[in-house]
Amino acid sequence: MFLKNYWYPVALAQKVGDRPLSVTLCGEAIALYRDSAGQIHALSDRCVHRGAALSGGWVENDCLVCPYHGWQYDAQGHCRKIPANTEQQRIPFAAKVPHYDAIERYGLVWLFYGDLPEADRPPLPPLPEYDDPAWRTVQGEVTYTTHYTRVTENLMDFAHAPFTHSGSFGAASDPLIEPYKVEQLPDGLRAQTQFTKSAYRGIWKLFNRGDAPRTVTTTITLYMPCIVRTETDLGNGFRFIGYGANLPIDAETTKTFWLTVRTFFTGAWADGDTVRRSLKIIEEDKRIVETQRPKMIPLDDRSETHVAADALQIGYRNLLRQARDRGWAIAESQPADQELVPAAK
Ligand code: FES
Repeated sequence: MFLKNYWYPVALAQKVGDRPLSVTLCGEAIALYRDSAGQIHALSDRCVHRGAALSGGWVENDCLVCPYHGWQYDAQGHCRKIPANTEQQRIPFAAKVPHYDAIERYGLVWLFYGDLPEADRPPLPPLPEYDDPAWRTVQGEVTYTTHYTRVTENLMDFAHAPFTHSGSFGAASDPLIEPYKVEQLPDGLRAQTQFTKSAYRGIWKLFNRGDAPRTVTTTITLYMPCIVRTETDLGNGFRFIGYGANLPIDAETTKTFWLTVRTFFTGAWADGDTVRRSLKIIEEDKRIVETQRPKMIPLDDRSETHVAADALQIGYRNLLRQARDRGWAIAESQPADQELVPAAK
C-alpha cells in the first residue's frame, strides 16, 4: 500500500546536476531536472508523444527536452515546442505531462505526491538543525529490499537496539523498555525513553564524565508516512539526530536517505568516522528487516503480536489504517504510467 498526499524524499539534491535524473516514487517514474536558476523541477518520466523517457534527454530554455523527437516541456509539464511542426501547426492540447511540486531541503529533493491543495498539505518533516552552524551533518542513501513500512517501523523501534545493535551501541544486558507515552501529532507520533549509558560504547564513552547523566534520552518522532527523526541526548550538550527519510520505490524496494546530525566533533575531520558508524548501524538493521515476512506490515490480521514496548509501532499501524480509510491508499499494482496527479492545464 502506497499513500498519496504526503511529501516524499526522492533524491540527494547533489545528484540533480546538469543532466536530468530518473527516480521512482510509488512505482511511478519521474524525471528531475534543474533550470538555469538552479531550481529543481519534476515531471512524469514518460513523453506523451511516443512514451520515451524524458530523463534521457537534456535541458534547454529551462525546458526538459525529449531525446526521441525533441519535444520540449516546461516546468508545469506543458509542451512548448515540437521541432517537427511548421510555424502554422499548433501544439496539441494533450501535449502535456504530469508535474509534481518539488522542494530542495536538507540536502534532499522532496516531492509532494497527491492531489491536496497547497493549503491542506502537511508541512515538510522538520530538520532545522541542518541549517544550524552549531550542528554538523553527514548524509547518504541506502537501498532496502523490502516495503517502506517495515523500514519505517524499524526506525521507531525502541526494543530492538539491545539485540540488533549489540555490535555497535546496543547493550544486550539491558533490554528493558520502561512504559512510555505516545504523543499524537497532527501528522505523526512522538515518544521518549531512556537507555543506560552502558548502551553507548566506543565514541560515546568519551561523554561518560562524572557529571553526565547516567542515562541517555532518546526521542523518536514519526512524520507520516515514512520519515523518522531520532534525537539522542547524551547529556552535557552532546546531542545527535538520526533522520531517516524513506522513498517507497515499489512494493519490495525502499531507498532510505539518512542524515546524522551532531553537536560534537563538528569538524570535517570527524565526518568519515560518523559515516562509518552510521552505515554500520544501518547494515545491522538491514540484515534483520529484509528477512521480515510479509514485506509490508500486516494491517488487517492478527498474525503479529504486540507488547507494551511496541506502543509506537501500534500507533503507526493505526495511522496507516486511518490514511487508508481516508481514501489515500494507492494500489501497489498501479501501472507506472497511470496518472496520479492531474495533468497540468
Ligand atoms: Fe518524446 Fe517523440 S517520444 S518527442
